[in-house]
Amino acid sequence: MTGRPRPLVLGLETSCDETSAAVLSGDDAMLGHVILSQDVHEVYGGVVPELAARAHLQKVDAVVAEALSRAGVTLADIDVLGVTAGPGLIGALLVGVCWTKAAAYGLDKPWVRVHHMEAHLFAPSLERPEAQPPFVALLVSGGHTLLLHAVAWGEYRLLGATRDDAAGEAFDKVAKLLGLPYPGGPALERLAESGDPARHRLPRPMLRRNQRPGERDYYDFSFSGLKTAVVELVAGVEARGELDAQRAHVAAAFQEAAVDVLASKTLRAVEETGCRRVLLGGGVSANRALREEIARRLGAEGRLLHASPRLSLDNGAMVARAARFRYDRGEIAAMDGSASAALAFPGLRTDPEPRN
Ligand code: KG4
Ligand code: ZN
Repeated sequence: MTGRPRPLVLGLETSCDETSAAVLSGDDAMLGHVILSQDVHEVYGGVVPELAARAHLQKVDAVVAEALSRAGVTLADIDVLGVTAGPGLIGALLVGVCWTKAAAYGLDKPWVRVHHMEAHLFAPSLERPEAQPPFVALLVSGGHTLLLHAVAWGEYRLLGATRDDAAGEAFDKVAKLLGLPYPGGPALERLAESGDPARHRLPRPMLRRNQRPGERDYYDFSFSGLKTAVVELVAGVEARGELDAQRAHVAAAFQEAAVDVLASKTLRAVEETGCRRVLLGGGVSANRALREEIARRLGAEGRLLHASPRLSLDNGAMVARAARFRYDRGEIAAMDGSASAALAFPGLRTDPEPRN
């Protein structure tokens, strides 16, 4: 048994294709942390929801047992159980939620429902304690693209969101089009390193100079038009028999366009809020071009906060940390609480930012 500060929180993540569990102490020490990525989806070039749920079911006991063992504790030592309750794939979410509810009931311990994207907000703080609000947050994952102003933990104002595809989804779809393996984001980033983005000109959807604060598209994103432009570009290149020679250039041009839109809108939020601290979260935040471009535009007075690649991807430690925040506020789930594929972001206000 550990002498670490309490509460000891077990965080469980099963919303998509990572089965992950972590034991987190009251001082944010990750005592045991296991992340198991499902490789079954590689064959299909994308996550198959039913297969994801089955794989979670097969692995969840072993993943939790290993996290507990690495932490040197047993389930009976855990004070609070936190689990991603949404958003995500419903079958996958239900595996984690049912496991957690059963454990909470059996142990007579509290359980907490965690919002997956709020958990991503907490990930950088596990490695860098200064990663606290206020900050502008760009959350970019396979399912979401959100631009927020986090005034304090639990107090978020929505500035913009994607109107169609998520940023990670666009990376994955373009990667697939270029014949890269799933998950496409990291593979596309590697390919783009050897390409010249200036060889192809791609559009910057929903980014125009004459947009004004207060107009919805000032902060909103759209990636499906960019994906379609890449589809057309690739078709043309392929028809000329130049796909192999152009693949890296297309990847670089796509990445540059996506990064330009994401960085431009994030910097608009920095200007309007006056907050020069930017937190990057979600799987796409592992992208080095995105990090470097935002850091460059922020300049020396700005501060870019992000997690290491391991904690940028889905993981149980961020879920445990978000669970402790909600637990400290007394937000304990009832036994009839469940998973929700479209769980509302807690504390997220959608009314416009007050102007000075
Ligand atoms: O947050 P995450 O692990 O899972 C979801 O909540 O969706 O994000 C996964 C997404 C995938 O679309 C993946 O391709 C993308 O993050 N991703 C990247 C990189 N690493 C992961 N996209 C661009 N560049 C990367 N280096
Ligand atoms: Zn995620």
